[in-house]
Amino acid sequence: MLGSGGREHALAWKMAQSPKIEKLYIAPGNAGTAGIALAQGGQSENVGLKADDFEGIKRFVLEHDINMVVVGPEDPLVKGIYDFFRDDAQLKGIPVIGPSKAGAQLEGSKDFAKGFMQRHGIPTAAYQTFDGTQVEAGCAFLETLQPPYVLKADGLCAGKGVLILPTLEEAQKELREMLGGMFGQASARVVIEEFLSGIECSVFVLTDGHNYKILPEAKDYKRIGEGDTGLNTGGMGSVSPVPFADKAWMKKVEDRIIRPTVEGLAAEGLDYKGFIFFGLINCGGEPKVIEYNCRMGDPETETVMLRIKSDLVDLLEGVAEGNIASRSIEFDERSAVCVMLVSGGYPGHYEKGKVISFNDERLTLNEDSVVFHAGTGVNADGQLVTAGGRVIAVSSYGKDKAEALARSFAGAQQISFEGKYFRRDIGADL
Ligand code: AMP
Ligand code: GLY
Repeated sequence: MLGSGGREHALAWKMAQSPKIEKLYIAPGNAGTAGIALAQGGQSENVGLKADDFEGIKRFVLEHDINMVVVGPEDPLVKGIYDFFRDDAQLKGIPVIGPSKAGAQLEGSKDFAKGFMQRHGIPTAAYQTFDGTQVEAGCAFLETLQPPYVLKADGLCAGKGVLILPTLEEAQKELREMLGGMFGQASARVVIEEFLSGIECSVFVLTDGHNYKILPEAKDYKRIGEGDTGLNTGGMGSVSPVPFADKAWMKKVEDRIIRPTVEGLAAEGLDYKGFIFFGLINCGGEPKVIEYNCRMGDPETETVMLRIKSDLVDLLEGVAEGNIASRSIEFDERSAVCVMLVSGGYPGHYEKGKVISFNDERLTLNEDSVVFHAGTGVNADGQLVTAGGRVIAVSSYGKDKAEALARSFAGAQQISFEGKYFRRDIGADL
C-alpha cells in the first residue's frame, strides 16, 4: 500500500485481518503501519519509498513479488500510477487499486468534475470556469451571484484551493489573485460556483468500473475549532453512521449520483477500478455533489473501516478481477467515531519531534478502541514522536454515537505529548 497517514494505517489494520494476506508492505507508512499482526502470522512492514517514486515502487514490487498495490492518497493517482503499471511490460499483470490518470481527473480537475456532472445530469452547484484571459468575465459572473461566493482552483492544492468569501469585493480580488498565479498552475483556471448550504456527508464506493459496492458513510469535521470555527485542517474527527443518511436518502444518492457516476465513467471510456469518494451536501433533503475524490477520505477511513465487517481484501480482489458484483459487503451495526489528536499550533506553524506516551498500554489492545497513527515517527533514541500536524486518531466502537465518543475521548486523555489538542465536540451536531 502507498501512503503515510491515518487513512493508510486504518486500511492496513483492516487488510491485516484478512486471511488472504500473506505479506503487507506500506510505503512510506508511519510509526503505526509497521508491525501490525497479520491474520496468517507475521507482521506488516514499512518500506522507505515515497508514494510517487514510481521507479522505486516498480523495483520493490518486482523484487518482492507483490500482487496488488492499494493507493491511499490522490497524488500518485493524479500523476498516473495506474497507467504506469498498465503500460509497463513487467507490471501490467499487477492490479493497482485506484483509477487511471484520466479517471483521477474527477479529483485532479474541478472543471473536469463539474463538466462530467453536467454531462451526466448529476446534481451539483451551478458554475462557470474562467482562465487567465477571462478575469473581467469572471468578475462580471460573480456580480450575478448571491453571497457568499465560492472560488475553486481547478487543480490539486493540498486542500487549500477552495475559498468561500462573504463579499463581492473580496471575491473579485481573490479571483484576480488566483488567476494571477496564487496557486501556480493549479489556479490557471478557477471554477466559480453557487454556494450550497446544508450538512455535508461523505459517501464512498468501491468500483470495478462497471459495478460497485457502497461502503458505510461518514461525516468529517474539518475546522480546527469547536463549533466548526477557525481554519480548515486535514480533518479533526469523523462519525459513522450519519443519521440523515437513512435508507431513503441513500437511495436518492445511489439513483441520482452513484449509478450515473459509475455509468458515466464507463460511457466516457475512463478506466476506474478503485474508491470513489462523493463529498455530498444535504440541501433540504436533496443530495448534491460538492466534490469528488479519487481515494478514501481521511479521517473518514478511520471510522469507515471499523464499520465494514466483510473482508476488505476480498472486495479489493473483486475490483481487480472485475467481479465486485459477486462479492458481499456487510456493515457493522455499531457506531464508530474518530477523534484526531493534533500538534499545538496546527494548522498553522507547529513543532515536531515531541515524545508521545501512552498512559494506558492496553488502549491499543482494547477491542472497543483502536489507535491509528497519522503523523508519527521514531527518533534516534527509538522513542515514538510527533512528525506532523495530525498526530494520532483514536477510533472507537459504541452501541451508539455517545458511547463511541465517550470511549474515544477517554482514549484521547490517555495519550500524551506536548501541545496535544483535540476537538471535544466531534459528532455533537448530529
Ligand atoms: P472541496 O475542496 O471542494 O471539498 O471544498 C472544501 C470545502 O468547501 C467543502 O468541504 C465545503 O465545506 C466547502 N464548499 C465547497 N463548495 C461549496 C459550495 N458550492 N457551497 C458551499 N460550500 C462549499
Ligand atoms: N476528509 C476529507 C478528505 O479526505 O478530503
